[in-house]
Amino acid sequence: MAENQEKNYRITELISQERLEQRIKEMAEEISANHQGQVVHLICILKGGAYFMTQLSKYMTIPVTVGFMSVSSYGSGTVSSGVVKITKDLDDSIEGRHVVVVEDIIDTGNTLSYLLELLKGRNPASLELAAMLNKPDRRIREVKIDYCGFGVPDQFIVGYGLDLDEKYRNLPYIGVIEELPEA
Ligand code: IMP
Ligand code: MG
Repeated sequence: MAENQEKNYRITELISQERLEQRIKEMAEEISANHQGQVVHLICILKGGAYFMTQLSKYMTIPVTVGFMSVSSYGSGTVSSGVVKITKDLDDSIEGRHVVVVEDIIDTGNTLSYLLELLKGRNPASLELAAMLNKPDRRIREVKIDYCGFGVPDQFIVGYGLDLDEKYRNLPYIGVIEELPEA
């Protein structure tokens, strides 16, 4: 039997596109209300945060600028190792700016606890975190989520930016993915 045979997966919808985007709109309104009279700099954590940030920013009613950053936890697959590496840093300084970090999901908290400390050291005027999803059951490091979309159970999630081996990011909804036994 071929070793690289495609596995079979089942994806079950957990949060519909409509519910998700309604919640993202509410989050955008909340961020806008909290930052009246300011310019907010959204920092998207690639790649997963891109879909969320695009949608969030479209609903914001105050001036917004955007930046992108890419980080990787050493090791691949579904387990986070706790060691974080910046693979693409920001293009612009964040000193004196009102920053909101935009992330797809907070799982163990390793990535964001590291990243928020690092960004704090660059002296932004304010620093907040918006997470589309929160998976609290697996938390190792505490992370303060200022704007949270939905809590999700301890299952592997795909869609709306979230991937399994780089696939399924483009699903317009949030789903749980399970591997099916070979037929
Ligand atoms: P953390 O450092 O464990 O909080 O997780 C950081 C990253 O792991 C997230 O930004 C996601 O890219 C990825 N991740 C965690 N849980 C899931 C999941 O259920 N599906 C897809 N990616 C996930
Ligand atoms: Mg990721």
